[in-house]
Amino acid sequence: MVNKRFSDVFGCEPLAQADAPGRVNLLGEHTDYNDGFVLPTAISQRTRVQIAPSPDADYHLYAARLDEHVRYTPGTALPTGFARYVLGCIALLREMGHTTDPLAIHVDSDVPIGAGLSSSAALEVAVLRALRVWRALPLDDVALAQIAQQAEIQYAHVNCGIMDQMASSLADSGHMLFLDTRSLAYQLLPLPADADLLVIDSGIPRSLANSAYNQRREECEQAAQLLGVKALRDVDSLDALSGLPELLQRRARHVVTENARVLAAAEGVSAMQFGQLMNASHASLRDDFAVSIPELDELVALLQQHPQVLGARLTGAGFGGACVALVERGAASRVAGEVLAAYSGPGRVLV
Ligand code: GLA
Repeated sequence: MVNKRFSDVFGCEPLAQADAPGRVNLLGEHTDYNDGFVLPTAISQRTRVQIAPSPDADYHLYAARLDEHVRYTPGTALPTGFARYVLGCIALLREMGHTTDPLAIHVDSDVPIGAGLSSSAALEVAVLRALRVWRALPLDDVALAQIAQQAEIQYAHVNCGIMDQMASSLADSGHMLFLDTRSLAYQLLPLPADADLLVIDSGIPRSLANSAYNQRREECEQAAQLLGVKALRDVDSLDALSGLPELLQRRARHVVTENARVLAAAEGVSAMQFGQLMNASHASLRDDFAVSIPELDELVALLQQHPQVLGARLTGAGFGGACVALVERGAASRVAGEVLAAYSGPGRVLV
């Protein structure tokens, strides 16, 4: 497919541009909407957004990877697809008083879509960065992530936490972002030493909006309410959970133990210990939080059995998508080849 550049599509050069990465979460899954702790890192794949004034009164959007054009007349219903994320960000800026004349917008990306690597957060953050450059908006990276999260919630109708947008806005691929999702205090920490990351897609697509994500969120809120705390982040002993109904007890146990795993990892542990925390995280996501699927369990088990793998778990919301493994330095392609040969599904290496 021809990759059409901005000038091919719009007949002029862009006047501002920015990009933002996807992310892979290493530890701290389903903790962000419980005010807890997360530990994602940026991946090398990025989304780039270029903009210039529109030649007329409409917005003109083009997504190079999808080869999709969208024309949008202000005041009409927002389109679906990639344009909704872009226009959602612009609408939020307008509500904050940052108006802009209609734009021509070119989007290009190599972040895998639907694999749990936050392609939507990368798009939102890249759009907002491009607009920040274009209009010299006084927004820091945290404020920008908060607007991106609102675009996801209010316009894509996904009731997500703030991990993905914070990771895209603040992380780099040489560090992991240790984030307290309650205070938004963060630190960039070194990745586990002498190890590499490997991300493999299960080949089973996931859709957050249609998944049990919102149900899990409600279960957590219910558990917090029964325990009389603001959020499950405020529970620090498993003993406190004993009075909860069985199902809520398991959901809450995942959140409490997962927060503890992130805090342990952030203290600075060996790659081997980090891998063990990842293995425990997968078991907890599978058994207590019930967000895994047989294909992810199979892939994760194959990874965990490999002698050069230090640890592996599903990554992202679950219900399909990818898993992440910590492997011995230099071993990623060998591990991937052997694991994919044994996997019964159509897996592929993403990172
Ligand atoms: C999705 C959401 C995040 C987070 C993860 C699960 O990626 O967008 O906010 O809740 O699921 O950890």
